[in-house]
Amino acid sequence: MMKTFEEVIAVDLEYMYQILEEDFRHLANKNVLITGGAGFLGYYLVQFILYWNEKAGKGSKIYLTVYDNYIRGIPDWLDNLKGNPYLTLKKQDITKPLPQDIGDFQYIIHAASIASPTFYRKYPIETMDANVNGLRSLLDYCLLQQRNQKAVEGFLFFSSSEIYGDPTPDNIPTSEEYKGYVSCTGPRACYDESKRYGETLCVNFASRYDLPIKVARPFNNYGPGLKISDRRVIPDFVRDVLAGNDIVMLSDGSPQRTFCYVADAVAGYFKILILGKPGEAYNIGLEKPEISMKELAETIVDLSRDLFDYQGKVIVQTSKDKDYLVDNPNRRCPRIEKAKKQLGYNPSIPLKEGLRRSLIWYQGNQDEEEK
Ligand SMILES: NC(=O)c1ccc[n+]([C@@H]2O[C@H](COP(=O)([O-])OP(=O)(O)OC[C@H]3O[C@@H](n4cnc5c(N)ncnc54)[C@H](O)[C@@H]3O)[C@@H](O)[C@H]2O)c1
Repeated sequence: MMKTFEEVIAVDLEYMYQILEEDFRHLANKNVLITGGAGFLGYYLVQFILYWNEKAGKGSKIYLTVYDNYIRGIPDWLDNLKGNPYLTLKKQDITKPLPQDIGDFQYIIHAASIASPTFYRKYPIETMDANVNGLRSLLDYCLLQQRNQKAVEGFLFFSSSEIYGDPTPDNIPTSEEYKGYVSCTGPRACYDESKRYGETLCVNFASRYDLPIKVARPFNNYGPGLKISDRRVIPDFVRDVLAGNDIVMLSDGSPQRTFCYVADAVAGYFKILILGKPGEAYNIGLEKPEISMKELAETIVDLSRDLFDYQGKVIVQTSKDKDYLVDNPNRRCPRIEKAKKQLGYNPSIPLKEGLRRSLIWYQGNQDEEEK
């Protein structure tokens, strides 16, 4: 039974290694670029590549470069990796022209974008620019490399389940075929619509220029690496628990979601990068259980009682932010057959176990994550 956050990370990285060992041979000796690598998903995207390098034999190492504008500072975990011979960190705003000396990358993951609804509503233009202009300059780079006979072998764009908007009841669970029910002017549109246009760019670059560009549509990931101050629902609840306060729910508790633990999700993203079909988008998430925010809060209370002898309860309040729930989808639940069939994606960490690991991780990372 894991008790410390270091144990949680060690177990998660080894779990991912078991899933990805074969697929990752494609990346051996290659240069990989991750934009937005200082963020939540970057936490395991980056650490897993370095973990692979530790286990891989000579001649199988991966050379990783991370671009990030460190809009919320450089996190300690990434700062601590400085000096790793296979890692290059560069402060780079992806909405600005790419560095002249960018070099040759065979694999690129574009994850740079503000992802928290509270923050993308505060910085809508910056969010759109990262998903449209930032993406475009990376796609142009792929094209240039192809013309110079230095072809990029895999490109992954992080889209979102938000491209589906608020699906009609008959489209839940939601498959990749669903076209969406989305506002183009509401408070969330800066995110949803820029991800949609980003996907359109990817599909057309892939088909017109025969480039290996693939798209991930993440459905509510959670777990180690997700800042406690990020204003997403699980860290919000955990922050209340660790402060010894009651859990404050800012809705009536009825919206429903499925949540996918980050180790399962990141394994899925790597599979899309390596095995996905060009021009295709894949849902990555968990199909079950679909739970209400009230049930989620109560589950976190129960787990925290066992782990920390937490004495709090769940209370309901109204957010001071008038847009907090505007266009907030009532239900969000994926179909994942496509990723299962085409990529062998098979998430297996149950919600309660993922939440337990997350609570342990947050307890051990409070100082860093409060930044
Ligand atoms: N985590 C989820 O559940 C989820 C769900 C749907 C989509 N996504 C997408 O996955 C990607 C990664 O998400 P995350 O949860 O890690 O987000 P995050 O906010 O934790 O991290 C994003 C990172 O991108 C960086 N960044 C933002 N704008 C940038 C710019 N202009 N130039 C360079 N760096 C920039 C930030 O500094 C941050 O380190 C995003 O594209 C997001 O939209 C995530």
